[in-house]
Amino acid sequence: MSTEIAKPVRRRTAPQITAMKGGAKIVSLTSYHAHTAGIVDRFADFILVGDSLGMVMHGMDSTVGVPLDLMLMHGKAVVRGTKQALVVVDMPFGTYEESPQVAFRNAAKILKETGCGAVKLEGGTRMAETIRFLVERGVPVMGHIGLTPQGSLVMGGFKTQGRDEDTWPMHLADAQAVQDAGAFAMVVEGVVEPLAKKITEATRIPTIGIGASVHCDGQILVLEDMLGLNPRPPKFVKVYGDLTAAIERAVEAYAKDVRDETFPTEDQIYR
Ligand code: KIV
Repeated sequence: MSTEIAKPVRRRTAPQITAMKGGAKIVSLTSYHAHTAGIVDRFADFILVGDSLGMVMHGMDSTVGVPLDLMLMHGKAVVRGTKQALVVVDMPFGTYEESPQVAFRNAAKILKETGCGAVKLEGGTRMAETIRFLVERGVPVMGHIGLTPQGSLVMGGFKTQGRDEDTWPMHLADAQAVQDAGAFAMVVEGVVEPLAKKITEATRIPTIGIGASVHCDGQILVLEDMLGLNPRPPKFVKVYGDLTAAIERAVEAYAKDVRDETFPTEDQIYR
């Protein structure tokens, strides 16, 4: 009999993600449930419980209406379902913009109630003071610049950023501000390729691209988009599976069996 005691798997930490800058590409996906998170956990460096869950799971038109309670509920599920990836939970709209103090109260609630290892919030220069306030008080923060979906009402939709080169200094200043405030990494969403490259080269913390080219230090996609569950995925999504067709086939077969009385059979009943 072996006397070796199995070592507990240590979860990845925010500083470990920072240390990956410029090395092996950082792999991440969103996940909202314990079950899918358990699968993603085996392959990803970090898992984001994104506020995109409002649109993907709850049929909302944007992420603006996502309440904190929903993030807490899905965050807990993902932490329960995983062992090794860092779990990052999005701070939803309205929970951090008002003041650094309000942001700290809500970030602390997210960390304590879900057991996640970090929070993410949107905004560059304008959120730098808040990011610094959180980090100095023990909250690991992931930034999010470029296309910031919580601003879709102001921007008039989800618009690719940096098409006009005159805006590049503003985006570079955002990246710099997020880094200098102490964020451990930043999502760079929906920006043109040369700008994503410049941001990645200009910063010491990892850039996690979504619609931001291969030049970023890592990539993230919404799991349901890459699994083929979104009938109209954005251009930047590569679809790796066809779960819509697989689910359709399974549900159709089940409905037929029930109507034909070929389910349940001997195998599925208690004698
Ligand atoms: O909410 C989300 O899923 C996100 C990713 C798209 C980065 O913020």
